[in-house]
Amino acid sequence: LVIELVDARIPLSSRNPDIDELGKNKYRLILMNKADLADKERTREWSAFFKEKGFFVVSLDARSKSGMKSITDIVMEACKEKIERDRKRGIKNRPVRAMVVGIPNVGKSTFINSYAGKACAKTGNKPGVTKGKQWIRLNKSVELLDTPGVLWPKFEDPVVGEHLAFTGAVRDEILDIEGLSYRLLELLQDLYPEAVNTRYKTDIRPEEELKGHEILERIGRKRGMLISGGEIDTERAAVNVLDEYRGGKLGRITLEPVGRPLK
Ligand code: G4P
Repeated sequence: LVIELVDARIPLSSRNPDIDELGKNKYRLILMNKADLADKERTREWSAFFKEKGFFVVSLDARSKSGMKSITDIVMEACKEKIERDRKRGIKNRPVRAMVVGIPNVGKSTFINSYAGKACAKTGNKPGVTKGKQWIRLNKSVELLDTPGVLWPKFEDPVVGEHLAFTGAVRDEILDIEGLSYRLLELLQDLYPEAVNTRYKTDIRPEEELKGHEILERIGRKRGMLISGGEIDTERAAVNVLDEYRGGKLGRITLEPVGRPLK
């Protein structure tokens, strides 16, 4: 079984579509992770979308241990056919082997820690037998590979790169923070027109059709972020906007609605 993590806020950009080819002969469970930061309704729509493709889907906050119990049930459900086939061939109690994959920062390690919890009794951990990868026996039914598979995002598409940057999946040192904040603010105006007003009390009216830099200036002014001479400290405002978006302070926001092409 392949357990593929995607970021529920950007279910398109946080996937590498090659996994569909690589994992085509395996059962698939898609975990829509960071669902605590995403729009519930959008997450429901995305879950339906992935189910339609024949995948099993769970939305999740990997940091919380509470959702983990149900994962094993779904793993068993996803591999039901195989378990049944084994049973018919007289093979009993052969555990399902699962591997976690996903792009960097999507929450793979967090998930493995939450899911494996204390059940870290590794199988085959005799000296000389295992070097590197190890199977963690979770219970009598499931074994999990302790090292996640890292998938590379599809950076060739600049919009994908941008969406990964909005959510913090890409290191900020390599980014133009101000430019990025403009584009995030424009996208928010489009998808969640009240989010900025609610957070920053900016009183922006839709008919003003403000550009990203103008929205950022409004925010900087409201927050009193000034440099000498009374000018707005747009760099500080940009860092603040990105931090607050990533921390969920602008609300639960999904940047990629189902059925809408990236733009
Ligand atoms: P990775 O192995 O796929 O690279 O990701 P990792 O588990 O390291 O998780 C990346 C960051 O995402 C971590 O934050 C982790 O706490 C956070 N995270 C994972 N799952 C969830 C989730 O379901 N909801 C939320 N809100 N956060 C989640 P971190 O270590 O604190 O890094 P940073 O936030 O300081 O960048």
